[in-house]
Amino acid sequence: MIKAVRGFKDVLPEDTVYWRYLEEEARTLFESFGFREIRIPVLEKLELFQRGIGSTTDIVEKEMYVFEDRNGELLALRPEATAGVARAFIENSLHMKDPVNKYYFFGPMFRHERPQAGRLRQFHQLNVEAYGVKSPSLDAEIMAMLHMLTQKLKIDDALHLEINHIGCPQCRPIYRDILINFLNNQKEKLCKDCKRRLEKNPLRVLDCKKEGCKNIASQAPQIIDYLCDQCKDYFDKTLDYLAVSEVPFVINPMIVRGLDYYTGVVFELTTDELGAQNAVAAGGRYDNLMKELGGPDIPGVGFAIGVERTVALMKKRYTLEEETPLFFFAVMGEEAKRVALPLALKLRQEGVKCEMEHSDKSLKSQMRKANKLKVRFTVIVGEDEVRKGVLTVRDMEEKKQFEIQAQISELLKLAEAAR
Ligand code: HAM
Repeated sequence: MIKAVRGFKDVLPEDTVYWRYLEEEARTLFESFGFREIRIPVLEKLELFQRGIGSTTDIVEKEMYVFEDRNGELLALRPEATAGVARAFIENSLHMKDPVNKYYFFGPMFRHERPQAGRLRQFHQLNVEAYGVKSPSLDAEIMAMLHMLTQKLKIDDALHLEINHIGCPQCRPIYRDILINFLNNQKEKLCKDCKRRLEKNPLRVLDCKKEGCKNIASQAPQIIDYLCDQCKDYFDKTLDYLAVSEVPFVINPMIVRGLDYYTGVVFELTTDELGAQNAVAAGGRYDNLMKELGGPDIPGVGFAIGVERTVALMKKRYTLEEETPLFFFAVMGEEAKRVALPLALKLRQEGVKCEMEHSDKSLKSQMRKANKLKVRFTVIVGEDEVRKGVLTVRDMEEKKQFEIQAQISELLKLAEAAR
């Protein structure tokens, strides 16, 4: 028996109802904010992620699925979508038409992390990206949209919006030096990974999940105290816009994000209900990404929601069931099938969900199936019915049985009445 690849999971029909509900709610909401759908490839050139996400990040250093194709080109399965959507925006010259543009995107991402509950190697994200404007009101609007989606999904009670500002190319290097100084004095107590991070990416030490490092991080100087006037003003305004929009949030100076493209406001939507994998969504501003990728100097802000983690919260709160068929055709014999098949086809043409039995089972076993399917009407077609040109209909809800003419109009009348 060949099994699925470790960390890659099937989504079965019991779960796809939740996925679809989430996607439909998200689509409607994002479009009401003016976001338009974009679709990008699963594979990109490795260089896109090295330059976009940063070659010293965990994602690029340790977690990507990289391979050489038959032409010797180095490719990677996308570990995230922000770099790819930015590439598409530049490559298709969309910025020439209008540098202000908003996109949303659904799809699978791939990271070779250690699989555990809530952490997969193929997982799915809903992404939104807004280009062309750098404004605190836009950042707040994006976070408000995320909050609104969680309200629509009735999972907002499980979530905290944590927000931080990680400075700009002017003030971040100053803070970085101060942080390196502080961490160097504690170097012996840091974990092996953080000793390495200290050299390459010191802000990431603040994000380490190990107890010892967390302790040190809690005493470290905080970036908010070292923001330049412009960044401080930007952050204050963002928080004010969130407050007047009634979006609950907490400031968390430990939110630094694991991707290098971020500048300015960053945020995570976290939960206490999913164990160690507590981030359900995350995002922030990335004003230099387009330039880094060789494109125009256009700012951006966005976020991604983890679908599996969101669905896990939905399932803890309510049950969604697949739509049941309205009719089930229980048929006895080939002549009965000749009557039932065209009727069933016409019903579907009219958008009515129905099923017909194809195996030649006894009426009793077909009735059991109708019960299991939880249909409203079982339409029985046997020799008698065929001879008389009628259908015997059993209303499973009202527990009544009656005859109708074997005509599509009669079935549609029943469907209409059952709505
Ligand atoms: P990220 O924080 O790497 O950000 O991922 C966003 C979300 O994807 C996480 O909060 C989590 O819900 C989900 N996620 C990440 N890794 C896994 C995994 N291994 N298994 C299951 N779920 C996972 C980004 O990807 C940025 N591109 C977000 C962004 C968009 N920033 C601006 N625009």
